[in-house]
Amino acid sequence: MAKETKLAANNVEKNMNLDEKTANVLDVQDMYLYFQTGKGIVQAVDNVSFALERGKSMVIVGESGCGKTSLGRAILRLLPENVYKYEGSCLLNGSDIMQYDDERFRKEIRWKRAALVPQSSMNSLNPVLKVSDQVAEPILIHDLADNKEQAREKAAEAFKKVGVPVDFLNRYPFELSGGMRQRVAIATSLVTDPDFIILDEPTSALDMLTQANIMNVLTKLKEEIDISFVLITHDVSTSSEIADMAAIMYAGQIVEFTDAYTFFGTPLHPYSERLMASVPTLEADDEELGFIPGQPPSLINPPEGCRFAERCEEEFELCSEEPPGFEMEDDRIVKCWLYREGGERDANYGK
Ligand SMILES: Nc1ncnc2c1ncn2[C@@H]1O[C@H](COP(=O)(O)OP(=O)(O)O)[C@@H](O)[C@H]1O
Ligand code: SF4
Ligand SMILES: [Mg+2]
Repeated sequence: MAKETKLAANNVEKNMNLDEKTANVLDVQDMYLYFQTGKGIVQAVDNVSFALERGKSMVIVGESGCGKTSLGRAILRLLPENVYKYEGSCLLNGSDIMQYDDERFRKEIRWKRAALVPQSSMNSLNPVLKVSDQVAEPILIHDLADNKEQAREKAAEAFKKVGVPVDFLNRYPFELSGGMRQRVAIATSLVTDPDFIILDEPTSALDMLTQANIMNVLTKLKEEIDISFVLITHDVSTSSEIADMAAIMYAGQIVEFTDAYTFFGTPLHPYSERLMASVPTLEADDEELGFIPGQPPSLINPPEGCRFAERCEEEFELCSEEPPGFEMEDDRIVKCWLYREGGERDANYGK
């Protein structure tokens, strides 16, 4: 049987020095985030583990409602009031920031060493503040500049990184296009020079051309500055060019974790296969496009076995139990019983 494993590249020794440049900038282990609602407990993030190497980018892909935003918010500890369970470890530079109390987390981590560009952030800039003041805010909050002038200089540097003309610093959000406002939101996340940033659906509210422009900004950032990022998206096609690693999320869990190049060529998990089959290509006409019949399960009392079983054409007896993540020979991790021997999947294997 293949080695069962957590969905993480390496286990890193825990240390207490946030400045240490460990191989993995981020190492999330056994993360849970459940919400209490009138209808029951929502298992939005259910035992998620993954690691991100320093300087690399990773995409988290999955259909709407599968827990991507909740996972990003769990990492940055941006939590709503109705949290029922919030557990796990989250190593930043090898130091477990889940152990920090809220004040320390706010002072040392959030918007300083780690930042999140929220979904629809371009529409949530403060309308009465000049964009220069918004971008400079994290600098001032964290005392990273001696005065306002120096904070503005840093804001101007961040603008250059994302391709916003410096004379836009004095404008108000309503004076900028959607694409420019999204760049401003990204600049705000970069201004403190964080170890990693999480971008939650950074292109979803934009037209095709602007989406492409934003992806170019991210590609350039990846090439030019030493930043690690996590890109959350429901659209697998937007991410193929910039992701080094890919995590496929389904119903609150990561079902496949792999290097992106291999993933986009040959996805392994039955859900990943269907996801990739639904991506339009130049060769395929619309009728040939696959779609995934059915809906993801409710995250209140989700199925006990494999959560994809109801939609999976390969389902067999074992699937009534939850599969662990199996490690393949090429280090990919797949949470599916078809891969319990760790190698190629046999068409008749599950039967
Ligand atoms: N504060 C909350 N209270 C209750 N349920 C929530 C809350 N936030 C998110 N959810 C639910 O958690 C699940 C995952 O949501 P989300 O993380 O937004 O998914 P995604 O970003 O993949 O679309 C969904 O079922 C959503 O309705
Ligand atoms: S574990 Fe079973 S039901 Fe789940 S994806 Fe694999 S074959 Fe399908
Ligand atoms: Mg979301």
